[in-house]
Amino acid sequence: MNWLKEKKLSEKTKQSEWKKVNWRSPSNIALIKYWGKNGKQLPMNPSISFSLSKSYTDTTVYYKKKERQEKEIDFKYLFEAKENPDFSNRINIYLQSLLKDFPFLPYYRLRIESRNSFPHSAGIASSASSMSALALCLCSLERELTGISNQLDFFRKASNVARLGSGSASRSVYGGFNAWGEHSVLKELNNYYAIPLSENIHKIFQNLQDSILIIDKGQKKISSSYGHRLMENHPHRIQRIKEANSHFLQMWEVLKCGGFERFAAIVEAESFAIHNLMESSEPSFSLLKPETYKVISKIESFRNQNKLPLCFTLDAGPNVHLIYPLEIKKEIVNFIESELVEFCSNGFWIDDNMGNGPIRL
Ligand code: DP6
Repeated sequence: MNWLKEKKLSEKTKQSEWKKVNWRSPSNIALIKYWGKNGKQLPMNPSISFSLSKSYTDTTVYYKKKERQEKEIDFKYLFEAKENPDFSNRINIYLQSLLKDFPFLPYYRLRIESRNSFPHSAGIASSASSMSALALCLCSLERELTGISNQLDFFRKASNVARLGSGSASRSVYGGFNAWGEHSVLKELNNYYAIPLSENIHKIFQNLQDSILIIDKGQKKISSSYGHRLMENHPHRIQRIKEANSHFLQMWEVLKCGGFERFAAIVEAESFAIHNLMESSEPSFSLLKPETYKVISKIESFRNQNKLPLCFTLDAGPNVHLIYPLEIKKEIVNFIESELVEFCSNGFWIDDNMGNGPIRL
């Protein structure tokens, strides 16, 4: 009998036994990029991102006390209603690594169901939204079982636990702008959990849009984890740490004082920085496609002609994120439809924007 049938049966017969916690958690787009790590998922440099609104993961964790006490973690995992051995494997390793943080795990049977708002084949990394949604569920589960209820600690722990699953996921547990990693500009900044940067953000950045141009829908051939690993002995490692720290400080100031031109220059320099690092790694690799360069060149010409506040950023893949304030949305959508969709895979792009962070469902 599969667990869903088993659950239905048990819900019918012993209604009260299976309980659940569920969270919707967003993806995020980094402006200052995390690229390279130390030790156990600690970033080589500080990063800044903003949480998205329409690209998210919904995760439900069903739990039920085991009748007999066993040492093993008993869980089943369904992604988009199907078993997925690769994800299941990753979650198994992840849950095992969290036994110290959540010592109750072996005492419960867990059934985890997860689905993304964006198509699996959109070439969008889902680790930030999926690992943050799972981390939030685990923290809620802890709260249900132990009654611990400090709101600040809750999100800090969720961010810390999400980081252990995927570094960028640490920045998805809050809405708006978030920063993760030590920097001397603020003592609260640390390598373990992200903090929200919600105060004193200049109005031009308060409603940022992110139109994600899907250049390639395929699964990435090279994982971010592999790219991070190559930074350990990268010939430009020291230089990169200096550059990221300097960009971080400049972005910190720009977000407060305004100035889209300066913002755009930092965001675009960061995008090229990580792709240059990939190309100068040993062994070197590139994730960009000819269409990525064509789209970037179109964006630059359009910006020069129209003097509008827009810029692009790139993640660890060929897709282009177009970032701009809500006020110029109409012009940008026209521009995308008339000049950029032809470079997108099947004309596909995602109309996203800055969001308010995770919600408990
Ligand atoms: C380019 O968070 O996906 O998106 O910690 O190994 O899971 P792991 O890596 P991941 O790396 C994201 C890299 C990036 C930049 C960023 O989001 O800051």
